[in-house]
Amino acid sequence: MPMIEWSSTLSVNVKEVDDQHKKLFNLINKLNDAMLQRRAKEEMGHVISELLQYTVIHFSLEEGYFDKFGYPDAPAHKAEHVHFIAEVKKFKNDFESGKLGLSIEIMTFLNDWLKKHIMGVDKKYTAFFNEKGLK
Ligand SMILES: [Fe+2]
Repeated sequence: MPMIEWSSTLSVNVKEVDDQHKKLFNLINKLNDAMLQRRAKEEMGHVISELLQYTVIHFSLEEGYFDKFGYPDAPAHKAEHVHFIAEVKKFKNDFESGKLGLSIEIMTFLNDWLKKHIMGVDKKYTAFFNEKGLK
């Protein structure tokens, strides 16, 4: 069963961004499944790398629009992105060096962070982006 599911309450009303959020949710589910099924460390490592890479791609898309349209909340929003990427990178390093395993706590952190970020920070740009014609 997926631990995290996209629903319309999570929509930011920009299709391209919603689609990327859905893909992030899929990757978090894939990682959760790998943990529950006790998959090989190497395989879990691949999914963690995939999640990190796609998160970077996704944040770049949002930030590209912030810059293009002069979004006033960009500095605070970008700071959240930087902080999250640092957390995921740190986890990836600790996982690879064997310092930390994949756990329910880690999965809950990823899940909660993404949901809270979309509901609290991403949704703030909906009206601004829609006004610029981005839907
Ligand atoms: Fe964001």
